[in-house]
Amino acid sequence: MTHIDDPVALETLEIDLFVEAMKRRYGYDFSGYSRASLTRRVRALVTQFGTGTVTALTDRLLHAPEQLKSAISGLSVPVSEFFRDPPVFQALRQSVLPLLASYPRINIWQAGCAHGEEVYSLAILLAEAGLSSRAHIYATDISTQALARAREGIFPLQDAPDAARRYLDSGGTRSFSDYYHARYDLLKLDERLIANVTFAEHNLVTDTVFCEAHLILCRNVLIYFDNALQDRVLGMFADSLVRGGFLCLGTRENLQFSRARERFQCLDADTQIYRLRSGG
Ligand SMILES: C[S@@+](CC[C@H](N)C(=O)[O-])C[C@H]1O[C@@H](n2cnc3c(N)ncnc32)[C@H](O)[C@@H]1O
Repeated sequence: MTHIDDPVALETLEIDLFVEAMKRRYGYDFSGYSRASLTRRVRALVTQFGTGTVTALTDRLLHAPEQLKSAISGLSVPVSEFFRDPPVFQALRQSVLPLLASYPRINIWQAGCAHGEEVYSLAILLAEAGLSSRAHIYATDISTQALARAREGIFPLQDAPDAARRYLDSGGTRSFSDYYHARYDLLKLDERLIANVTFAEHNLVTDTVFCEAHLILCRNVLIYFDNALQDRVLGMFADSLVRGGFLCLGTRENLQFSRARERFQCLDADTQIYRLRSGG
């Protein structure tokens, strides 16, 4: 008979069982997530739920479906920033939006939108390019709690100075403060920015193509996935894009692990913006 003495190996077993339980009980499949970050987040959830062990956490979630939303929120990492990586937003302004302007309707899928900082940044870009009325953003995430926050558009006011600097670095010519109202220590983004935004739950692991898109932004999500899962998701993005459509990944992500890489042309490796080839 073999048995496990090593506490690390024991925790690995507990996390395997946790992943299996989430999949079989609720259909959430975390088996393709990078193990190191998943382990950190499961540990954080043990603390958040005060269960002491991963096994007790699994037991709690198996029997308390009402706590699932909070668990999914804890497992996802909804960290974002307005105009995160300004050169990316500058490239979208200068090289992508002018080409999208030729379409009568522009569909943008923003996958993994977290609390919405990127959605509002993109909406500001569209407004400044005069494209708001023709563009529709589908902002999706696995976490319904993150989506609810994104819909609200309320953020700490202390984020504003850095956001304003990144807005200018991205080529903004107005003032970031034109787009929000401050109250006490919070800011609320102008609701008109999300008039053409649909927020929806979508799981990149198990759900299929979301819409026919002219631009897909999926930044800082694939880094949490193993190579096989990255391949699945990137294939789905290629199938979702119109010919000549654009894909924008996080600056630390690329198409290396995707069989779909031949279908794309890399426009700029620094900003990780790709274009689906016409035969793609
Ligand atoms: C680090 S945030 C990235 C936010 C934003 N895109 C950015 O780059 O600033 C990662 C987001 O991916 C979401 N996510 C994780 N797994 C997902 C999945 N399987 N399907 C959809 N979204 C997922 C998380 O909930 C989280 O909001």
